[in-house]
Amino acid sequence: MSAITFRGLTKTYGRSLAVNNFSAEVRTGRVTGFLGPNGAGKSTALRCLVALAKPSAGKTRILGKRYQQLENPLTRVGVVLDSRGFHPGLTGYQNLRVLATVAAIPASRVEEVLAQVELSEARDKRVKGYSLGMKQRLSLAAAILGDPEILILDEPANGLDPAGIAWLRGFISAQAQAGKSVLVSSHQLAELQHVVDDVIIINHGTLVAAGSLEEISEGGTLEEAFLRLTGGGLS
Ligand SMILES: Nc1ncnc2c1ncn2[C@@H]1O[C@H](COP(=O)(O)OP(=O)(O)OP(=O)(O)O)[C@@H](O)[C@H]1O
Ligand SMILES: [Mg+2]
Repeated sequence: MSAITFRGLTKTYGRSLAVNNFSAEVRTGRVTGFLGPNGAGKSTALRCLVALAKPSAGKTRILGKRYQQLENPLTRVGVVLDSRGFHPGLTGYQNLRVLATVAAIPASRVEEVLAQVELSEARDKRVKGYSLGMKQRLSLAAAILGDPEILILDEPANGLDPAGIAWLRGFISAQAQAGKSVLVSSHQLAELQHVVDDVIIINHGTLVAAGSLEEISEGGTLEEAFLRLTGGGLS
């Protein structure tokens, strides 16, 4: 069974087609890069996948089910989307504790994930005082809180410094080594080609290419393949 499936997914906003009859599979135990120019429809497709947006047509499945059908979803799928709502007045630790309590996850796990994203020192600082990169690390911590088998990461490198980006690479590789499936969108193609097994490219809401990194790159770099397949410019 695929970890994630998109089948004819279509999402319209007014008269604009954000996602247009998009179909793709994310294989179990692989890291899949989700690429596309600005406005291509990546975030919209991911929001449909985790029920933050309602598809206009088509369907999405995680582990063969709709996101809403997953029991205790935090333990099945971890999500980092650009608009994650943490409570700014609570500390990083408190924010994660709230999530853990709701999902019946022990408090010790909160300490564990804070250490994993290297936020232990900032755990008692209010989130409104966090930098962009710190918030991004907290989002990643929240995503792995329930030790889910699937991770959906929308531009997780956003705001991370070079050390953070190197750390993220190790983090994603470790997830894959532990047998997890990762779907990660990013514009950092040089970075991404070190961690992905498979690639899905979307442009103007439509699937452009999908395959293994080797198939897509055809002996060149991922960036060259991306520019060739998308024509370079804005979606
Ligand atoms: N809530 C919304 N209301 C109206 N239009 C939207 C909304 N969300 C997205 N869109 C439009 O849908 C299209 C796809 O946007 P989306 O954010 O999915 O692209 P993206 O691939 O994630 O781009 P980026 O790389 O810049 O993050 C764009 O034309 C965008 O303007
Ligand atoms: Mg986006």
